[in-house]
Amino acid sequence: MKEQLTQNTILLDGKVTSAAIKLELATEVATLISQGKRAPHLCAILVGNNGASETYVASKVKNCAEVGFKSSLIRYDLSVSEEELLGKIQEINDDSGIDGLIVQLPLPDHFNVQRITEAISPLKDVDGFHPLNLGRMVQNLPAFLPATPYGILLMIEHYKIETSGKHCVVLGRSNIVGMPMSILLSRNAYPGNCTVTLCHSKTKDLEEILKSADIIIAALGKAEFLRANMVKEGAVVIDVGITRVKSDKTKSGFKIVGDVNFEEVAPHCSYISPVPGGVGLMTIVGLLKNTLTAYHHE
Ligand code: GUN
Repeated sequence: MKEQLTQNTILLDGKVTSAAIKLELATEVATLISQGKRAPHLCAILVGNNGASETYVASKVKNCAEVGFKSSLIRYDLSVSEEELLGKIQEINDDSGIDGLIVQLPLPDHFNVQRITEAISPLKDVDGFHPLNLGRMVQNLPAFLPATPYGILLMIEHYKIETSGKHCVVLGRSNIVGMPMSILLSRNAYPGNCTVTLCHSKTKDLEEILKSADIIIAALGKAEFLRANMVKEGAVVIDVGITRVKSDKTKSGFKIVGDVNFEEVAPHCSYISPVPGGVGLMTIVGLLKNTLTAYHHE
């Protein structure tokens, strides 16, 4: 069932889409267990107690349980040394009972993030951050795709959105979302075959470029940046932003908003993803799917 927001706008519902894919994963895991095999196992390393990271990692652990995966959470306090962390990563790389390993980012400043990223075995790199996986992705070879772009592809696929020949504008060039998203949507594949424009802080004539987009992926991390005057009638808008802003309408005094001014933009779209309840839920599905792939690599 597609939720119709207005006469012409369909909501890209992360709850419904992630639930459908998680059901497929849970069914596959149940079959593996009934055959006497072990469950897929994801290990997460969390350093410190950054509030957002705590929330993300807790959600990853909960979602593993929901599909029947085993998960381990290894916590370190801020004083852990890079050498100690690298030692633990090596131990997990060598542990045949663990399929996927993620180190939650951001790490405290005294860590060399690149060194940590490259220490994770590419075969267990279910975040898809290792240069080997990114390189394979660029060459359209089998690879672990970064979880958020992968989740967005799964969402586009679920709603059977046409992408071939479309002009896709990606807002933001982060290593985790914007950069890989721009490459994935320009690949000769479905979803893909888009003509992609990657926009960033130095882009000129941004509004004009956005106005010509059939598909907009907003991943620049600026609350409610995208307004109605920047969007073509009938565009597909996918919102990756997650910003906590003050609100006098919630008990907590905060609310989560995306990079898109939803109320203003939604009536002009053919499809739009909400925040919360959109891409965030799909990111976890991307991670779970990568973990199952890692399991099958054995
Ligand atoms: N921090 C924000 N997003 C991510 C992610 O997808 N993976 C990891 N490891 N850290 C993150």
